[in-house]
Amino acid sequence: MKRVETKRKRIESELEKRKMKRRRDSDEFKVVEGVIDTSTLKTLYRLLNRGVLSSLYGAISTGKEANVYRGVGSDGKSVAVKIYRMTTAESDYMLEYIIGDPRFQHVKRRSRALIPQWALKEYKNLFRYHEAGVRVPRPIAIERNVVVMEFIGDLESGLPAPLLKDVVLDEPAEVFDSIIEMVEIGVRKANLVHADLSAFNILWYGQPVFIDVSQAVLLEHDNARKYLFRDIQNITTYFSKLGVEIEDPQVIVEAILSGDS
Ligand SMILES: Nc1ncnc2c1ncn2[C@@H]1O[C@H](COP(=O)(O)OP(=O)(O)O)[C@@H](O)[C@H]1O
Ligand SMILES: [Mg+2]
Repeated sequence: MKRVETKRKRIESELEKRKMKRRRDSDEFKVVEGVIDTSTLKTLYRLLNRGVLSSLYGAISTGKEANVYRGVGSDGKSVAVKIYRMTTAESDYMLEYIIGDPRFQHVKRRSRALIPQWALKEYKNLFRYHEAGVRVPRPIAIERNVVVMEFIGDLESGLPAPLLKDVVLDEPAEVFDSIIEMVEIGVRKANLVHADLSAFNILWYGQPVFIDVSQAVLLEHDNARKYLFRDIQNITTYFSKLGVEIEDPQVIVEAILSGDS
């Protein structure tokens, strides 16, 4: 019993020492150390040196291809930091959404090269949407596989906004209209189709906010219309279940494309 006790003490003190060392090494990013590869840690330091980030807190979300963290910007305000994993097992599907995009002429197939292009695509799409007036997080910076964007949620407490799928809406019909209008402005003014739109990729912060836009394609993309139909269908299905009376998705798509809705 005694021996076990001493052994545990020894391990604990060793861990404590290591923890201290880690803190000294990188106080700002201690939460991600060990979770994140060395090259990404370097990328985070570049953002620190650029004055974009001052520190990083816990993960808001850990997904298949990316983790999202709350960070603090140089002005002391919360930002969202989306870190794409450099080694994603499933990067093949990304090719479908990036090949043929005139903004990415030389698409690389190796993850090491593709993932930074994918992150840049998310940044560029956020920028386009934002410029067009579609509610998305304002893009702040891009550095290799890390996208820094406006934090949607309570800036003071750092509490992120919930997903649309998790909120009970007072006026679902109005929210539906507002989402369709955002899709329409996205198509007409930003020339973009989201291509993964659903209640899982819309935040609710008093109003809907589109997120997760890396796969969004320009309207010229071969499959843009197919993706637009799928987006609209996801939204109409969701709101029909909430009891909102809705037109045929095809009619909505045609109205969006013809510009007379
Ligand atoms: N700008 C943001 N502000 C607050 N929370 C965010 C922001 N961006 C993403 N999140 C949170 O992180 C989660 C994952 O982000 P998302 O872009 O959808 O990545 P994934 O590819 O993992 O689905 C979201 O469901 C949301 O909860
Ligand atoms: Mg998502």
